[in-house]
Amino acid sequence: MKTITDPESMSRECRDARRMGRRVGLVPTMGFLHQGHLSLVRRSRSECALTAASVFVNPTQFGPGEDFDRYPRDPDRDASLLEREGADLLFAPEAGSMYPPGHATHVEVAGLGEGLCGAFRPGHFRGVATVVAKLFNIVRPDAAYFGQKDAQQAALIRRMAADLNFGIDIVVGPTVREPDGLAMSSRNVRLSTEERRAAPALHAALTAARQAVERGTRSAAEIRELIRSRLEGTPHRLQYVEVVSASDLEPLARLQGDVLIALASHLGGTRLIDNIIVRLPGDEGKAGA
Ligand code: PAF
Repeated sequence: MKTITDPESMSRECRDARRMGRRVGLVPTMGFLHQGHLSLVRRSRSECALTAASVFVNPTQFGPGEDFDRYPRDPDRDASLLEREGADLLFAPEAGSMYPPGHATHVEVAGLGEGLCGAFRPGHFRGVATVVAKLFNIVRPDAAYFGQKDAQQAALIRRMAADLNFGIDIVVGPTVREPDGLAMSSRNVRLSTEERRAAPALHAALTAARQAVERGTRSAAEIRELIRSRLEGTPHRLQYVEVVSASDLEPLARLQGDVLIALASHLGGTRLIDNIIVRLPGDEGKAGA
């Protein structure tokens, strides 16, 4: 595996691969890798001749008072995990080469970035869309791989890739979970023993919601209330729970079609997100319908 820190060298390396007819896959990450990331590397390797992973803790997607400084980092461990997984290229730029003095251009995906996490993290998705667009332009991959845990991010990147004619296949891999159901996240390492014990309650609440849907519940309000009640008496401070259309993230009053049930919660100083998709017949039922 070759490690590259300079955007221009990375572009050159990927261009050479494409010229040789090699399908290029990109797995963008912020590092402190876990099995969720590595499953995306494996998927890329199975579908592409060259797999590049980026490790860059992108400052522009963190708001003031968020955890940019505390975000877990371990570049050596990341490099050896990627090497072991068979990645071909590791792109690990410095912030100064991604955002040199005078950098003034941002990508905003209207609508999709405003609800769910976007309502609580102003500017977050603008930072995500901007850095992902830059990575797409540097690498020019044929396919790019993201995790379903960040469902809003995945929907937004899909929209951006289509709107800006990137011509990249956006592949979304399933959320990878710990044996007790907790969605893998780089931030899990920051949970105390007690918080770690409480963390799987999120997945348990989402599972209870899925079971309620399977028993016939179709009211979004009832699903939200069920999840809230399942988290009462736990250390979770639920930030939001929303029931939206999986394709356009529009709020639903009644569950129909592909439905995303998404939540965010604070456990101590750590913010966790999780979601499930339930698939029902029909695509009506948007709020107000
Ligand atoms: O999901 C992440 O780790 C980040 O948001 C991403 C896509 C690498 C952009 O910084």
